[in-house]
Amino acid sequence: MREKPKPSERLIVALDFSDPARAETMVERLGSTVAFYKIGMELAYSGDASNNGFTLADRLIAQGKKVFMDLKLHDIPNTVARATAALARRGYEFLTIHAYPPTMAAAKEGVEGSALKLLAVTVMTSYDDADLAAAGYGFSVQDLVARRAAQAWGAKIDGLILSAAEVPALRLMVGDEMILVTPGIRPQGAEADDQKRVATPASAIAAGADYLVVGRPIIAAEDPAAAAEAIVREIEGTSG
Ligand code: C5P
Repeated sequence: MREKPKPSERLIVALDFSDPARAETMVERLGSTVAFYKIGMELAYSGDASNNGFTLADRLIAQGKKVFMDLKLHDIPNTVARATAALARRGYEFLTIHAYPPTMAAAKEGVEGSALKLLAVTVMTSYDDADLAAAGYGFSVQDLVARRAAQAWGAKIDGLILSAAEVPALRLMVGDEMILVTPGIRPQGAEADDQKRVATPASAIAAGADYLVVGRPIIAAEDPAAAAEAIVREIEGTSG
């Protein structure tokens, strides 16, 4: 069975900034409380040639932090295989790809022999059934999530990004082997912002999540380190 990470490493802070200098200031403020950071497209593509999301990722890794590159790759198999092979040499911990079977198979081939773990995005949480119908799909969100999760499992993808509400059913389906990562986390009493289905850190961990991705409740807090520390304590105090 896969070993659970240490509580302090189960919190992934989303560096949702479009300025690498501001993201780096946040990392400094969080100090040793946070060991794992998510860099999404907004930060990755921001800044200039000498300071951008990719150079920040390199500096984080040099400091011993873990990096989740949330680049949500999807292209023809040849391109995906080569792109993931290039990213696999950068020392990142996680990389997201869309859960289309040819994309997953190509990404798997690209990271072969490296330590980079692939996380599949099943259906964007901002989509509803009407959006899928408009895009030409004959599935509800729930059915498409289940179908793509099963395909990700079959393709031996390391993990899935999903909401805490989806975790129990997915855990039953994929067992302990897959890494389940949940955004949409809000400590008790925090603003939901634009997240539609939120869970507290404790409830997501108890439901079976391995990692929690938290953005605004930490990066927009008056005291980000205290907010992060409180979430780590909540993870520590929950069995799951
Ligand atoms: O600020 P907040 O905690 O809502 O940030 C959550 C992070 O997780 C953001 O970086 C967002 O892009 C990401 N995310 C999400 N829902 C998904 C996938 C990723 O909120 N389904």
